[in-house]
This record gives sequence, structure tokens and C-alpha cells, in this order.
Amino acid sequence: LNRVKKLPANFVWGGATAAYQVEGSTQVDGKGKTMWDDYLKAQGRFSPDPASDFYNRYPEDIKLAKQYGLNAIRVSIAWTRIFPKGYGEVNQKGVAFYHRLFKECLDNNVEPYVTLHHFDSPKTLFDDGDWLNRKNIDYFVDYAKFCFKEFPEVNNWFTINELISLATSQYIGGNFPPNHHFDVTSAIQAEHNELLAHARVVNLYREMQLPGRIGLIHVLQPIYPITETPENKHAAALYDAFLNRFLLDGTFLGHYTTETMALINEILEKNNAKLDIQPGDMDILAKAAPQNDYFGLNYYQSQFIQAYEGESTNQFNGTGEKGTSSFKFKGVGEIVKKPGVPQTDWDWNIYPEGLYDVLKRVARVYPNSKTIYITENGLGFKDHYEGPDQIIDDQPRIDYIDQHLEAILKARSEGVNVQGYFVWSLQDQFSWANGYNKRYGLFYVDFDTQKREIKESARWFKELADTK
Ligand code: BG6
Repeated sequence: LNRVKKLPANFVWGGATAAYQVEGSTQVDGKGKTMWDDYLKAQGRFSPDPASDFYNRYPEDIKLAKQYGLNAIRVSIAWTRIFPKGYGEVNQKGVAFYHRLFKECLDNNVEPYVTLHHFDSPKTLFDDGDWLNRKNIDYFVDYAKFCFKEFPEVNNWFTINELISLATSQYIGGNFPPNHHFDVTSAIQAEHNELLAHARVVNLYREMQLPGRIGLIHVLQPIYPITETPENKHAAALYDAFLNRFLLDGTFLGHYTTETMALINEILEKNNAKLDIQPGDMDILAKAAPQNDYFGLNYYQSQFIQAYEGESTNQFNGTGEKGTSSFKFKGVGEIVKKPGVPQTDWDWNIYPEGLYDVLKRVARVYPNSKTIYITENGLGFKDHYEGPDQIIDDQPRIDYIDQHLEAILKARSEGVNVQGYFVWSLQDQFSWANGYNKRYGLFYVDFDTQKREIKESARWFKELADTK
């Protein structure tokens, strides 16, 4: 162990997955299509089948998790395995799969933390406008209600994973279907509607008086001005409002503060965009805000921002063994590199201080977040596998996790209530925009044979588990 000496007793120590990124078997046992299937096929760059074949190999992965000291796993339910069209008829084979999966987890004392929606909107609903169509919210509430009744063995729920990534990848960056670029109206509307969906599900969960816990997952990207000029500081405030503050306010305050809305309105005006908040919406958010049991916080990187008033541009190139992107958002800011801050091979900033800062901020400004779990954190890295029984030396991943754990434990020692950590990811899996080169797992997956190999990070993870 480098610097982290000891994990707190009872610390939740898990690995994260998402249905579409691990399960494979996208066309079997009655599963309906997601927004990804035809889209990926048409692109022909990479297939979601068999991914890590978790649909068949989950017993092996859960046993590995247990063997390497994990006491929890994040999985998501594929909405389209339960409701192939997103609503209507139930697919019993899909239901049976999740019962088997949860049983396997519980039999091995690996507690499941279950997300209802992780980027995999049903195709039928996607074609009808996805989260931009308010009917989608009703279907999501129905799906959630079905799951709550059907899976009493699950005690830890998350509604939606990373609302911001979904909205911005669909409508700003354009690397998720429907590939819109800088469609600010759709992005902000999708965020608001997803917040409503989350809030309605939390309110429902409380009405059903279920014994478990529920929350949602935001990825937070702390924003820093590249230099302390008034222009850069204002750009950073705008960027932060767009990426973090609007969603945190909506989730944990139950309203968007005047200061937040002033920043959001400035972005909307500069981009000729608008947000439709309907009567009653804010009551739903207000009711749910104090009812979240916990907060799932994903953290990968922070961003450094410089003021930018030109036209918006986004150049993303992330499909190979390395990736780059450049991002300039009209009237908001430009993402720039900060000298001295190291980056991953996909140009993500490695900045654990950002995690410490954002944990302190959440605890200070949003006490309704209550208990925090780090639900994703990890390093995308091209691991080198030389063959059976050869060491897979992923020291950069160990260093990355170690530094971020340091930040977490420091925040904890100053009173921030972090109760767990899920590394992204348990095993190597399919990466949405990057395919199979960008690996995150503790366990290596040979995508040809589906054989699992142990990385050094898994051994290190086990040593840490033993310090609890
Ligand atoms: C998070 C998502 O945004 O980041 C995961 O919840 C995703 O689904 C992870 O895989 C890493 O992103 P990427 O693009 O490197 O796979």
C-alpha cells in the first residue's frame, strides 16, 4: 500500500458495472432494443455483444469479487429486459435473470446496489423523444414500481446514472444517439425532466413504505478557472452551473436557487435556448429533496475553464488506444489543459484534489445528500496482457485509485460522510464511446475467449479490503 493505510470498518467496498456495458446477450431471451443497438450496428465500430458476457458469467464475476475482498457490487437493470418496449408486457425471462443475479450476489455476501437507468433507454421510447417527452417519466415510474415490488431482495436503489452525461452526450457533445451538437434546449430540458423522474420515483418509494434505501447518481466535475481573471471566474461559474449546480440544486434543495438560475438563464440566452418548467414540477422536486437516503457520486476528473465567446465546437476522437477532445461552448467557456496536471491517455485530467473539494462542497451546501457513496472512480487504461499467468501490471490504475482514496479519507476525517467506494469497473467492459480499448477493470477480460485474468490492482484492492 502506498499511502492509504486503513479503510474504515463497515466501509462499502465495491466494483461497478452497467447492464449494457457488461451483459452482452442484447438480442436474447426476449430483450427489447435500446437506443444503442441499431446505432452501433450502423456505425460498425464495435458491438455490444458479447461485451463481458455477464449475462452468462455473472456467477464467476461475483465469486471473483468476493474472493478479492469486495462486499458490494453496482449493477443496473436493463429496462428492456423487463419491459422490451419500455412499457406494457413484462418479459419474464428478463425478470428471472435479475432474480438469479441478485441471489448470486446475496449468497456470496456481495451486496447489490441497483441502478434503474444507466444510459440504455428503450428504443421505442427513445424514438418517441426519450426524456424530452414527458410521457417517458410516467413509463419510468411504472418500471420503477414494478421493480420495487418484484425485487424485494434489493435494498439499495439508484434511479438514474449521471443525468448530465446522458443529456450532454446526447445533445451537446453528440457522441450518444441522437447525436445533437450544442442543442442546449434539449440538454437542459432532458436534465430537468430526468430530475422530475427521479423525484417522482423517490416519492413513490416513500409512499410504498419500502424498507430499503434510494438515491441517484451524479457525476461531478469540479470546475476551476484557468487563471483568476474576472472573465475566467465567471466562465467557470457558468460551466459549473451547467454541469453540477443545476442538478445538485434540483436534487437536494428541491429548487433551483436564484443564483443558479441567473447563470443558467445567461447560458440559455447566449445559445437561444429555453427551459420549460411546468406548474407542479417544483413541488415534486421539493417533496423528494429531503427524502433521498443517500447520494451516489461519480468522480473521474476536474476541468479548467477559460472564457470563450466564439462559436461552439467539439472535436472528439476517442475510439483508439488513445483519445483526445477539445470543447468550446459558446458564451460558457472553453475547456483547457492546466500545465502540471497529468492526464490519462484519453486526456482526462488526473486531479484528486477536485474530489476532495467537491466532497466538501456537497457536504456544506447540500446536507440532504446525507450519506455519500463514491459510485464510480477509476482509470481508463490500455492494459497489457501477455498471456496466461503473466502479471498484468496496472500500476497507473493503482496510483490513481490510491490518490483518490486519500482525498476521500481526508474529506471523511473532516466530517464528510462517505460510506463506500465502488471502483469503475469490476471487470473490463464495453466503453460507450471508446469500445474495448479503454479498460477500467480490476479483472482483465479477454474479449475473444471471455477468460478473466487478475490484474495487480485487484490484488492491491484485496490488501486494502483486509485493512477494514
Ligand atoms: C461514466 C459512466 O460516465 O463513466 C460509465 O457511468 C462509463 O458508464 C464511465 O463507462 C467511463 O467512461 P468511458 O467513456 O471512459 O467509458
